[in-house]
Amino acid sequence: MQTQMPQQFVAVLDFGAQYGQLIARRVRDLHVYSEIFPCDVSADELAAKHPSAVILSGGPASVYADDTPDMDERILSMGVPVLGFCYGQQIMAVKLGGKVGHTQKGEYGPAKLHRQGDSVLLDGTPQEQTVWMSHRDAVSQVPEGFRVTSTTDTCPVASMECPERRLFSTQFHPEVRHTECGKAILERFLFNICGLQKSWTMDNIIDQKVDEIRAEVGDRKVILALSGGVDSSVTAALVHRAIGDQLTCVFVNHGMLRKGEPEMVEEVFRKQFNVPLIHVHAEERYAQLLAGVTDPEQKRRRIGTQFWKEFFAVAQQLDGIEYLAQGTIYPDIIESGARKTGGKASTIKSHHNLIPFPEGVHFDLIEPLDHFFKDEVRQLGIALGLPAKLVWRQPFPGPGLAIRIIGEVTPQKLAILKEADAVVREELDAYNQRLYEQTGDRNSEHACWQYFAVLPDIKSVGVMGDERTYQRPIIVRAVESTDAMTADWAKLPYDVIGKISSRIVDEVDGVNRVVYDVTPKPPATIEWE
Ligand code: XMP
Repeated sequence: MQTQMPQQFVAVLDFGAQYGQLIARRVRDLHVYSEIFPCDVSADELAAKHPSAVILSGGPASVYADDTPDMDERILSMGVPVLGFCYGQQIMAVKLGGKVGHTQKGEYGPAKLHRQGDSVLLDGTPQEQTVWMSHRDAVSQVPEGFRVTSTTDTCPVASMECPERRLFSTQFHPEVRHTECGKAILERFLFNICGLQKSWTMDNIIDQKVDEIRAEVGDRKVILALSGGVDSSVTAALVHRAIGDQLTCVFVNHGMLRKGEPEMVEEVFRKQFNVPLIHVHAEERYAQLLAGVTDPEQKRRRIGTQFWKEFFAVAQQLDGIEYLAQGTIYPDIIESGARKTGGKASTIKSHHNLIPFPEGVHFDLIEPLDHFFKDEVRQLGIALGLPAKLVWRQPFPGPGLAIRIIGEVTPQKLAILKEADAVVREELDAYNQRLYEQTGDRNSEHACWQYFAVLPDIKSVGVMGDERTYQRPIIVRAVESTDAMTADWAKLPYDVIGKISSRIVDEVDGVNRVVYDVTPKPPATIEWE
């Protein structure tokens, strides 16, 4: 299924990992659809999609270095407004006959911007304002027809524009929150200069997606592997909104889910949404499969392979299923190589290949979230009526608690870990909620991003009452992160750590000690296996 492009959209040309994503998200936050393209997309290919505006992202390279990311300069004369940030400003300058050189010193972090004369882009913002800079090179001579609209003490061309050709750029980063008027500048570009509408709203998106799914699926049947995670849950709710009982969800319960999770899936999807749900009780089969296995990679492989066996065993028994719905989201697509391959189609293929279809079995895929960022998926979930606790659920690995039990997974260890993990989550959910109430921001600086218990394969001596104990410790892991690529251990208040510790030893049989993991990633990973 091809996602239809909304009538108005902004094409973000990405000149370096992550820069484009942030810009695309900021544009969407302002309710305008945006999509990321590799920086070397050709003008013909881009023009065929009819973007309403183009933004050139920043990037870590120097425009004069070897192998520097390049762009098709015809994009600058397509008649569509273009806005360049940082590297985007420099490449715009060079392509149009200007010059870029090294500044005397680099400029990293906050800088004072001084406006110069009139500016269509900066109109309405103060004469002096704080902006976020990160550069060593800068434009030293603007192209013909351009004028300089601001400077800093270090940077002679902090912004420039040629309104007649609808070309604008800044050396600073309006997409970064530390740029005081960054949002106002983006708004000015999108709404005043480009005349765009705020059409990217959740209600519009749901209507559009529902229409697309209906048009694609018709009266055919769809199956979906529901894990209870955010992406598969939102996909299920959306597809069900579109085609009702033509959707069947299959929930493979491998027994290593967290306390209360299978019940929540049943409650939400069977009772609240009335979705046809097949709950596959595979706990016993998984227990046998994992007996005696201690190697982390072996555990992961066995769990993953069995998952698809269980799923397809059910799928093949159902009559007339033609589609498999998947919760693939936009970062999965981008990170799996959109940039390298330069096209969506080939990227999606590599995703499809991840599913081990059995011999002779084939389903077409629908991936209705393939253009959404995670925070948009959450908003979509809320708009579709999914409960907040499911929508704000923290990441949970596919192999489940098996990779948080060091050594062999046994029913006794699983029982201990489930109880201890429930305490950690209850206390840190409450801690996050308190932070949210104080700051109004779910991603506030000290919020825990992921938190759980780990059961190591050791015992230690303790004393409870007058009795010596020889029992297991629990490791508490709580991290701050934005994307799991890097993470830091959460600086939890002592009273919060103390309460978790005393509750675990009081409430969980078989545990006599609690320790807190204070290692960032890198060098550690978030999970223990
Ligand atoms: P690590 O341990 O590599 O984890 O720092 C990074 C993030 O990925 C999650 N994770 C997984 N998610 N299947 C998943 O769906 C997996 O096999 C898996 N392993 C790790 C982990 O929970 C963290 O959020």
